[in-house]
Amino acid sequence: MKKLAMIGCGGIGGYHLSHFLGFKDIVELAGFCDLIYERAESFVKQAESGKAYTDFRVMLDEVKPDMVFVCVPPNCHGEIEYELIERKIHFFVEKPVSLSLDMARDIRDKIEAAGLITASGFQCRYSKLVEPNKKFVADHEIVFVECARIGGIPGVDWWKKRSTSGGQIVEQTIHQFDIIRYMIGEPTEVFTFGTKGFVHMDGYDTEDLTTTAIKFESGALAMISTGCYAVSGESFDSKVTFSAKDCRADLRILDTFKVYGLSDEQKQESSGLILSNDGSMKASADGNALVYREEGDAGILCDRTFIEGVINGDGSKIRSPYADAVKSLTFTMSCNISMDTGKPVKIEYK
Ligand SMILES: NC(=O)c1ccc[n+]([C@@H]2O[C@H](COP(=O)([O-])OP(=O)(O)OC[C@H]3O[C@@H](n4cnc5c(N)ncnc54)[C@H](O)[C@@H]3O)[C@@H](O)[C@H]2O)c1
Repeated sequence: MKKLAMIGCGGIGGYHLSHFLGFKDIVELAGFCDLIYERAESFVKQAESGKAYTDFRVMLDEVKPDMVFVCVPPNCHGEIEYELIERKIHFFVEKPVSLSLDMARDIRDKIEAAGLITASGFQCRYSKLVEPNKKFVADHEIVFVECARIGGIPGVDWWKKRSTSGGQIVEQTIHQFDIIRYMIGEPTEVFTFGTKGFVHMDGYDTEDLTTTAIKFESGALAMISTGCYAVSGESFDSKVTFSAKDCRADLRILDTFKVYGLSDEQKQESSGLILSNDGSMKASADGNALVYREEGDAGILCDRTFIEGVINGDGSKIRSPYADAVKSLTFTMSCNISMDTGKPVKIEYK
């Protein structure tokens, strides 16, 4: 059986571990590494297998894993990935894959040269809402996308500083930037405004709110706003709206996808199509909208697709390999550059 190891046993590591517990029939949970030994040790206890480490090189020497999940903070990437490439170990890496575009591009090129299977933590691409969303944007010419993600501040220390998290666009709202790219194609230019002064917290220096205007290759325009100033869910109704000439769709990521403006006949067709393709999908006409609801955990499919890819030696079903994740990093880092320079930035996927 192939061996899986983890580097980084914090918050998101625990999310992945909860999925791995259901994969014990296909993969051996062999090693867990964290700079904080107790965290690695607690993962060993939960997995009921493997060994705990604080030095990832020692773990790689002893365990000799076939695949590694890298779940470290955004500013801790680099030496881990280079070591995995050197040893030809396939890896899954959490988003954002780096805070240095030069480094991410170099790692991407070395992955390609080594022929490794990779994936990144864009689990929203595995949501059951993706299929109807893709169909909607294929059937209707999208002119405008509006997106807002307004929330609070995550409880990890590294998040509060842009130098360690990348800021809210790069660390968090990258999920929305990524899913919009996945739906309507590549962006060409961004212009971002940011503001501070609403959040008062020791050691915090990132923007409280940003708004980005975006041009896409298709000609469509988008506005994406993201804030971390909220202390209540009533602060804003976060969603992504895909607007066409005679209809629109609202995506609440990993929650619901609602289509407005379809004729009764179109609703019937969409509903029938989705239900016959996937028995677990619920599509129902709800008032004016056709409503699709998320079921299950897209993260399970995201992790399993990578693990099965490594087991079968075929990564073709992975929806967000490292090279693609570098594009979403480029998109979001371009927003930071625009904010810092006060100028629009053309996106260059070098
Ligand atoms: N896909 C998602 O939806 C999602 C959700 C949350 C977080 N994330 C991403 O996951 C990453 C980690 O976030 P988190 O909330 O788990 O952070 P965290 O601080 O809870 O955990 C990170 C862990 O990595 C360990 N670590 C750092 N460098 C290490 C090294 N060289 N060797 C071994 N361990 C090391 C730290 O000690 C810490 O325990 C971030 O990039 C974050 O953006 C993704």
